[in-house]
Amino acid sequence: MSIASSAEAPAVAATPSQPALKTARRLEHIAVSEILRIGAAAARLRAQGRDVIVLGAGEPDFDTPDFVKEAGIRAIREGQTKYTALDGTVALKQAIQRKFARENGLDFALEEITVGAGAKQVIHNTFMATLDEGDEVIMVAPYWTSYADMVRIADGVPVVVPGREALGLRLDPADLEQAITPRTRWLMLNSPSNPAGAAYGRDELRALADVLLRHPHVWLLSDDIYEHLLYDGREFVTMAQIEPRLKSRTLTVNGLSKAYAMTGWRLGYAAGPRELIAAIAVVQSQSTSNPSSISQVAGAAALDGPQDILEERRQAFQHRRDLVVDALNEIPGIRCRRPEGAFYTFASCEGVLGRRTPDGHVIESDVDFCRYLLEAHDVAVVPGSVFGLAPYFRISTATSEAQLVTAMRRLARGVAALQA
Ligand SMILES: Cc1ncc(COP(=O)(O)O)c(C=O)c1O
Repeated sequence: MSIASSAEAPAVAATPSQPALKTARRLEHIAVSEILRIGAAAARLRAQGRDVIVLGAGEPDFDTPDFVKEAGIRAIREGQTKYTALDGTVALKQAIQRKFARENGLDFALEEITVGAGAKQVIHNTFMATLDEGDEVIMVAPYWTSYADMVRIADGVPVVVPGREALGLRLDPADLEQAITPRTRWLMLNSPSNPAGAAYGRDELRALADVLLRHPHVWLLSDDIYEHLLYDGREFVTMAQIEPRLKSRTLTVNGLSKAYAMTGWRLGYAAGPRELIAAIAVVQSQSTSNPSSISQVAGAAALDGPQDILEERRQAFQHRRDLVVDALNEIPGIRCRRPEGAFYTFASCEGVLGRRTPDGHVIESDVDFCRYLLEAHDVAVVPGSVFGLAPYFRISTATSEAQLVTAMRRLARGVAALQA
């Protein structure tokens, strides 16, 4: 859905008491999140008394660890409630510095680190700071929906390259080479990814690095936010570590939301060349200024504190992944690869297209299929087309096992009720 119709026709019609709102041209073609729309439709059904299971959320169902909450509470009590340094306190930046050294073997100076209100703000700031009209950003479909809209808001052009099924929905280096033009500014890499759960190992990153080394004008944004959710003993690797020659044009983004279940605290960070970090600070200085002082104290506690909780939660997510993937692959018409990481499964519904619902509607797309599942079977999932790849649907496994088991039963019943 486009929230602005065109530059000529204002989005909201005038009434005698309500003057027309003319929205900015930059909002044209920016989608209101389909995920939020599905959430609202599910809430409406729930208000009618229906027991809808929502598998749309991109946030862990676990709670923020107690020791992190306590650090936040102490920060309030001790009066750490004022403005802080614009892009993060020294204390937090030092904790981030330690994290990069400990977990990724990467050394960064404090001036090479920025902190924002979520990884999302950091990515948005990056595009605002670096894109001119028409500059291109390459992203791999299926991609996190916000990438494309954040590029558009910054007047850039998203260049979508489909991940190859044969490569587990990862980017083929030859496709990357093909997509690069003189206007390319960034390649977005998200490993493990939302929504496909596709992770890049050493060899895959090496092959992409070889392409990037041939194109020195292209920078890399490595979104590592699902770093701690990798399964089956896979090792996490990130580009700045694999190819030091790319470090001077790589921004490594991470955050507290997914690993430490801190979505509401709004805290994300990145490390990269100091000129870029300084440019990001300029954008942040004229929007939100510093991220919450209290969240920063809690964030430092999370990064420096005991990390065993990460492994416990990783195991729980891996178990849920297996439960969902196995159940989906039992359903005729549904096909699902086993994701290497993150807390989503991304399944093909190609096999149910063309079938008819009991009330006579033909399922023509993944959007139709997801609507049918919600309206007739009380399960809310998100169509793949939202992430730039159809016909698929995304299930978030960030919900209890009991709910997932019930949801899989409903899904199987829903598909069985479709007629060829
Ligand atoms: C791939 C990816 N990157 C970044 C984010 C942003 O996370 P936050 O802004 O909460 O740090 C998300 C959240 O869903 C995501 O899925």
